[in-house]
This record gives sequence, C-alpha cells and structure tokens, in this order.
Amino acid sequence: MRAIVLKKNGNANQLKYTELPLPQLKEGEVLVQAKAIGINPIDLKTKNRKGIYSILQNENPLILGWELSGVVTQSRSEKFVEGDEVFGLINFPGHGKTYAEYVACPTAHLVKKPSNRSHFEAAATSLAGLTAYQSLVHLGGLKSGQKILIHAASGGVGHFAVQIAKHLGAYVAGTSSEKNREFLLGLGADKHLDYKTDALEKDHKDYDVVLDTIGGNTIDRSIPLIKKEGVLISIPSGKNNAVTEKATKNGIKGLKFTVKSDENDMKVIADYLQQGILKPHISKIVEFDAMEEAHTQIASGHTVGKVIVRL
Ligand SMILES: NC(=O)c1ccc[n+]([C@@H]2O[C@H](COP(=O)([O-])OP(=O)(O)OC[C@H]3O[C@@H](n4cnc5c(N)ncnc54)[C@H](OP(=O)(O)O)[C@@H]3O)[C@@H](O)[C@H]2O)c1
Repeated sequence: MRAIVLKKNGNANQLKYTELPLPQLKEGEVLVQAKAIGINPIDLKTKNRKGIYSILQNENPLILGWELSGVVTQSRSEKFVEGDEVFGLINFPGHGKTYAEYVACPTAHLVKKPSNRSHFEAAATSLAGLTAYQSLVHLGGLKSGQKILIHAASGGVGHFAVQIAKHLGAYVAGTSSEKNREFLLGLGADKHLDYKTDALEKDHKDYDVVLDTIGGNTIDRSIPLIKKEGVLISIPSGKNNAVTEKATKNGIKGLKFTVKSDENDMKVIADYLQQGILKPHISKIVEFDAMEEAHTQIASGHTVGKVIVRL
C-alpha cells in the first residue's frame, strides 16, 4: 500500500511517499481502506517531534495522521464486517497512522458513517469535532443558558465548538479576524469579537466558560472575561503550560485538555452529523499526492474549518 512516512524532523518536504506492506490486524481491529483523512495542527507539531508527541520519536516508520473515514476491508471483530463505512479518531494519543491507503483501527475508536454524509464530512469531524465535544461537555460542563467565548471560532475545533455550544443552548461569542465575522455568525454565534482589536478588553466580563485554542497571550486576555468560579479550557499543547497557575491566581479554574479516542463520544458525533447538528465546513480538499499543500495550508494558522485529503 502507499503511505506517507516522516523520515526526519523538519518541514512538509520531509513527508516521503513509500510502499509498505498492509498492516497486520490484532484481535478487535479492522482494516480500513481510507477514503478521506483530516489534517490537523498536531500533525505539523509532530513533524517537529516536539511536545507530547515526542512519544512517537522512536517509531519507525512514523506515519502521521489520526482521523479518517473509509471502508472496512478485513475484520477481526464482530462489530464491523467487510464493506461497512466507518469513521473515527484512531489511537489518540498514540500512533494513528492514517496517512496511508489502509489503516489498522481498533473498533473501539470507530463508528458507522451516517449514510447521508460523505467520507469528507465524516473525516473532517473526527478529531476537531471530538475535541470540541469532549472539552465543552465533559470538562466545561457547558449547560443551557450559560455564556461561552470560543477563540479561533472559524478554525477546525472552533467552528464545531460554536455549533455544539449553540445546540446545548448556550450564548456563544467567538473570536476571529474581521474577514471571518460573517462565517462565524452564519454558524450560529451570537457575537463576533475581532482578536486584532481591543474588542476583547471591551467585552462583558461574565463568561462561564472560555475555550482557548490559541494559548499564550490569549490566556491573559481571557482571564478577566470569566466569572468567578468560571472555567478556562486551554487546548494548544506547549502554549498553555501556565494556564492553571494563571487562572487560580484570578479565582477561576484553568484546565489543560487533550482529546481521546472514544467510542461513546464518537456515537454522539455521528448522531450530530446525521441530524445536521454538526455541519463541517471543508475549505480545501487536496489529493493524497499533494500532502505538502495540505500541510502548508494548516501551517498558515488561518484555515477556515477543515482541510481534507482524498484517497
Ligand atoms: N489538546 C487537544 O486535544 C487538541 C485537539 C485539537 C486541536 N488542538 C490544538 O488547538 C489549536 C487549534 O486547532 P484548530 O485545528 O482549530 O486550528 P486551525 O483550524 O488551524 O485554526 C485556524 C483559525 O484560527 C484563527 N486564528 C488565528 N489566530 C487567532 C487568534 N490570535 N485569535 C483568534 N483566532 C485566531 C484563524 O482565523 P483568522 O484567519 O480570522 O485569523 C483561523 O480560522 C491548535 O494548536 C491545535 O494543535 C488541541
């Protein structure tokens, strides 16, 4: 099968196409022929082999990627049979290996793809959709009537977070630059704040939850906006180390978060997708041969919604 391996640290030009044998299945796994895979900032961070993903530094071959949608071609499980269309977040945190034509996937990380959604839409929703869901619901405990501020609400995680928070009945404010204002409001956000201005400093100081997808200075700018006993959830690994300490000093809760592959949460995501509660915005689809282009887009830091690779 064709796969993309990372030979050494560096830029997108270190991603090398190669032929590998089909993965061997363990009990409880299925072989999935990938139809679409999602590209995420963590793929780029792993390329530099920094942070939490240093755990992959001795993997050889190192195949990047964690989210996919595709078709089961072999099964060592009773859960799925050949021909089933499935999607999910594979082995996160761990070695997902989805930059390949075929991927060995634990069935506990997969769910059936809704028949009314494409492989592109399903792949797009796995990592970023699950991150938004787990952070808002499990960590933030977001409830109807509460107020949430979502940073980078036009990005992969943020645009799902807006949709989930609205579905839960929250009041939603989101940040992006001015060019994405209409996109954000179109997702259902109640208010847009341009992070390039002093709109944050002028905003009301009564949020129950802030989802920080940026880190650093965004943590400092967010803390004064949160109610006493409110929650600041920060997800960008490496840029959020001080969140707990800074938040505690200000009488709020500061939490770091890492998404986890999870069957039950994926069932909720599949249901949201099927019902149209989650509508992934795919701004770019590139071919498997053009992975460098997908990485360059994510590296810009200004992707709207998701970038998907077609196989
Ligand atoms: N901990 C976890 O489990 C976990 C899971 C998923 C993602 N993450 C991390 O979360 C971060 C976000 O991921 P993502 O996939 O959502 O990224 P993304 O899609 O690349 O985010 C792009 C968006 O960010 C906006 N943006 C850029 N700078 C901004 C700023 N200073 N303030 C507000 N918005 C800004 C851009 O809008 P404009 O073009 O309008 O500026 C753009 O739409 C990454 O660091 C990623 O690694 C962590």
